[in-house]
Amino acid sequence: MADIGRDLQQAASYLTQGELVAIPTETVYGLAANAFDEAAVVKIFEAKNRPAFDPLIVHTHSVSEISNIAREVPDVAYKLAERFWPGPLTLILPKAEHIPLLVTSGHDSVGVRIPRHPLTLELLRQLPFPVAAPSANPFGYVSPTTAQHVQDQLGERIPYILDGGACEVGIESTILRIEGDEVEVLRLGGLALEELQEVVHISKARIKTSASNPAAPGMLSSHYSPRKKMLLGSIPENLQKVDPGRVGVISLQQSFPEVPREQQIQLSTSGDLSEAARNLFSALRTLDAQPIDLILAEPMPESGLGLAINDRLQRASFQG
Ligand code: TXA
Ligand code: MG
Repeated sequence: MADIGRDLQQAASYLTQGELVAIPTETVYGLAANAFDEAAVVKIFEAKNRPAFDPLIVHTHSVSEISNIAREVPDVAYKLAERFWPGPLTLILPKAEHIPLLVTSGHDSVGVRIPRHPLTLELLRQLPFPVAAPSANPFGYVSPTTAQHVQDQLGERIPYILDGGACEVGIESTILRIEGDEVEVLRLGGLALEELQEVVHISKARIKTSASNPAAPGMLSSHYSPRKKMLLGSIPENLQKVDPGRVGVISLQQSFPEVPREQQIQLSTSGDLSEAARNLFSALRTLDAQPIDLILAEPMPESGLGLAINDRLQRASFQG
């Protein structure tokens, strides 16, 4: 099993030796390796069982480092970076020459992010290289939001998990592709569209978050999935069709007397969608471990982080 601790020296030492370390971020835990060390980056794909076509995000600690990662940083990227970094936003920019193609899955662009977690920011400041880090889950499964989630699934495959507590945002970063002054949304995430729109206008046509978008490799229809089958829709309606004793329920606020208490989770009893996002992945994991046949979930209101939560729920319930 991996050691779990808060020892930055230890984490830095493993990373410097080309080993993997799980790191906390405000969105989800990441599985980090030296972004310049191809042999280390290969270990990420192996540990996660991740297909080579799915590119990794490069994480750094300050905007002044971006020019080492991207060869071109349009003004709008700086504007977004100044406003939202550190934070749950990833920018896809033209890649710098020395970023290995392995990191970008052969693309001429690279994802960059400054995460907002004090422990990880301190680690990144101590390292002489940026880290490539996907979410620290086996490919296709639910992302981890605690050190224990990482231990449960990848503990046998990595030496160290830096424990930064439960993730404050709880879903992955919002991904924007930037080309010149064109901005496109490739993944809805922890930064709400309403907040982004305050800085840059993004039309509906530029929100390209469907699974078939070749610009966002790795965004598959079936993703973020628990092992249990999941049904997304009106919970009262779906409860009519099943044995309520054998299902799990994920709702925003409502409880259902016919379903056993330990099989239902309200994401936010006050209806706060940020709180709901924070609780989402833990809820999926908790219900996945219950003796049930099916998880029933309902769509969230379509504002704030509700859109990103619905994206995750749709992918988690997709049956191809
Ligand atoms: O919040 C997050 O973004 C977390 C934390 C650890 O930072 N990371 C994360 O990484 O969610 P991952 O690998 O699970 O998802 C990253 C996604 C890829 O699946 C891909 O769709 C997109 O980012 N991506 C990365 N680099 C890209 C590129 N050069 N072009 C297009 N899409 C890219
Ligand atoms: Mg992921």
